[in-house]
Amino acid sequence: MAEQITIERAQQLKQKPDENKLGFGQYYTDHMFILEYHADKGWHSGRVVPYQNISLDPAAKVFHYGQTVFEGLKAYRTESGIKLFRPTKNFERLNKSNARLSIPPIDEKLAYEGLIQLLNVDRDWVPSVEGTSLYIRPFIIATEAALGVNPSLSYLFMIIMSPVGAYYAEGVNPVKIHVESHFVRAVAGGVGEAKTAGNYAAGLNAQEEAKEQGYSQVLWLDGVHRKFIEEVGSMNVFFKLNGVVVTPMLNGSILDGITRNSVITLLKHWGVPVEERRVSIDELIEAHHNGTLEEAFGTGTAAVISPIGELSYHGEKYVINGGETGELSAKIYDTITGIQNGKLEDPFGWLVAL
Ligand code: COI
Repeated sequence: MAEQITIERAQQLKQKPDENKLGFGQYYTDHMFILEYHADKGWHSGRVVPYQNISLDPAAKVFHYGQTVFEGLKAYRTESGIKLFRPTKNFERLNKSNARLSIPPIDEKLAYEGLIQLLNVDRDWVPSVEGTSLYIRPFIIATEAALGVNPSLSYLFMIIMSPVGAYYAEGVNPVKIHVESHFVRAVAGGVGEAKTAGNYAAGLNAQEEAKEQGYSQVLWLDGVHRKFIEEVGSMNVFFKLNGVVVTPMLNGSILDGITRNSVITLLKHWGVPVEERRVSIDELIEAHHNGTLEEAFGTGTAAVISPIGELSYHGEKYVINGGETGELSAKIYDTITGIQNGKLEDPFGWLVAL
């Protein structure tokens, strides 16, 4: 029999923030979901509880060896109710990340049921102002208090939720990007394609250096040749080259983004040629010289589409599409966000009603 999820409601509800000033990940809803794992019991004790601090032993493995994974997805308030965007994909990917980080697989149905119960309790937190959504952050941490380097014998799976606006202060306006030629984010064979904390920590110093020089993010090159494009900041990346949309193929060090997959699906549906292949920085620079680097943009759950207005590489600046949002980038953004907020038809069945 499926395990029962219990619900403990908060005695006092928080005051909701101004939906016009949400920012990203600044506020949390009244409740959260917890599911525990112990080697001898499996995943158990699923419960919705008031949002609260958790207590962990300082020796918990997550603090020392980074055994942790996470996900990110969004719920939208549409005219026909609250909708989730492709939620089962996130739970599938969570288990792929688990496998890479030696975390036991989670029952995807139970994790999803936990989310639905949590959303039902906190449904008033799904914002309605245009451009807002409820960002959902499922994650797993290793909790066993033991300093030996072995997979933990206990874990916590949790879901927290945050009403959000735009991820970048620039919103959907083009960002300036520094091509990072010293540090790398990940290498094939490592954990690059897993959604795990270390990949994000590994990107921070280059991001901070780029910011000091006036760039929003970095464009990551591969760790072997320092030549092939991998990701932009914490997003997948696309280029429109002479009418063809090109994105780096998945190679083990690149995240299999759900927005990436949605963009590819949409482009194919429109009949726009799209290629998943290796693309080098030299190819981009040559295309820029020839006038065929027409558009560039990042894709991710948080920002959806983030146009790239300028690349800087080895001290040279390469402005893309006059520093403006490209026509195709804008069309993709409008279409995906239109589907998400229920204003456009959903031909792919991406939305799931709560
Ligand atoms: C996303 O684009 O959704 C991300 O992965 C960024 C997130 C870590 C805030």
